Amino acid sequence: MDVVIVKNYIEMSKHTAGMVGDLIKHQEKPILGLATGGTPIGMYQLLVRQYREGLLSFKHVRSFNLDEYIGLDPTHAKSYHRYMNEHLFLHVDMPFHQTYVPDGMAKNLDKVCRSYEKLLKKIGPPDLQILGIGENGHIGFNEPGSDFNGHTHVIRLADSTREANARYFQSIDEVPTHAITMGIKSILRSKKIVLMASGEKKAAAVKRLLEGSPDEDFPASALCRHPNVTLVADEAAFGQND
Ligand code: F6R
Repeated sequence: MDVVIVKNYIEMSKHTAGMVGDLIKHQEKPILGLATGGTPIGMYQLLVRQYREGLLSFKHVRSFNLDEYIGLDPTHAKSYHRYMNEHLFLHVDMPFHQTYVPDGMAKNLDKVCRSYEKLLKKIGPPDLQILGIGENGHIGFNEPGSDFNGHTHVIRLADSTREANARYFQSIDEVPTHAITMGIKSILRSKKIVLMASGEKKAAAVKRLLEGSPDEDFPASALCRHPNVTLVADEAAFGQND
């Protein structure tokens, strides 16, 4: 795993936006794997800025999102559909039909998971997969104990994840209990993976990631099995806060 340590959140966002921008500029039909949450917001802002300045076009980009909450309508303020619209899709020239986010409102969720996995195989895999990391080591919403051979599936969110994500909702009671997530195997099919981490709350997870060998109790450790992973962490996430 390559490790890039940067000063702070802004530098992490710049570094990662640079990697995404390079791919978009140099590849004919790039496929991006996208994450949500607080970590990549700055990166999306920089990508939107580059588009507005005429430095980047998303016309030929296709994207797959990692996950979506079950039971949140795409227009719901906290759904990942809405997040993607607000932070990227509505601000760039990426045709909407080239963006894929799992449907957390479908009646038949197993069917949605199977179709998403099929689509990932048909169109994908992502040339570049962006990941954040949960304080408990989750990637996507693959919680501790997730099968390293797992495909896109429905997952019950860990209490620790619901507690961590309560900061994005009015209260923890509003945080959905379940989500659809790409599985670890689906994620590992990506050609290149960039894991972003910022802030001291992520320091323990980053430390364990760098120390550890693959262990299903710590999902991010599956990344050790991938030949092309870059961790972009700021000093706080790297435990270097003074
Ligand atoms: C989001 C996702 C999650 C987040 C993780 C960190 O699509 O897959 O794994 O990356 O929960 O979230 P933040 O960035 O909000 O700390």
